[in-house]
Amino acid sequence: MKLSNKLEKVLNDQINLEFSSAYAYLGMAAYFDRTPFTGFGKWMQVQSSEELGHANRFFKYIVERGGKVTLQAIPEPKCDFKSPLEAFKASLGHEQKVSASICAIYELATAEKDYPTLSFLKWFLDEQVEEERNVGDMLAKLELVGDNTSSLYQVDRHAAMRAAENAKS
Ligand code: FEO
Repeated sequence: MKLSNKLEKVLNDQINLEFSSAYAYLGMAAYFDRTPFTGFGKWMQVQSSEELGHANRFFKYIVERGGKVTLQAIPEPKCDFKSPLEAFKASLGHEQKVSASICAIYELATAEKDYPTLSFLKWFLDEQVEEERNVGDMLAKLELVGDNTSSLYQVDRHAAMRAAENAKS
């Protein structure tokens, strides 16, 4: 069963969005690495690596289905933020965009009755729930502590631990 041209296009677009996500997180890591909040920086680095893994999953899937991989330019990411809160807000917005994009591909695959693609996308639907929850959890903590520097430092240490755990898994 051959991939339709429409599905091939949106799957290629998704490779780009995943690479753009990796780059966006790297931009956030670059920001945090200029601040005392190195835990947040590590968290963003791990997130960036995960996004590369996502891009590669789409890449391999297109190849497995006999499609043509087309790589597109990656937009320049933002490397300056006003605060950790602003960076994590941007991160959540990004994940929500990725989730919406995965759902749109799912809808197209449903309309085309492309069952292998629906099966492939299932992992991403679950992954997006986890990613939005992880970012949302950090955001909730940052909103709670506000500008209190010692509490911010505690959240930063928590982010460092979480990043170390995720890097191992
Ligand atoms: Fe691959 Fe965080 O979306």
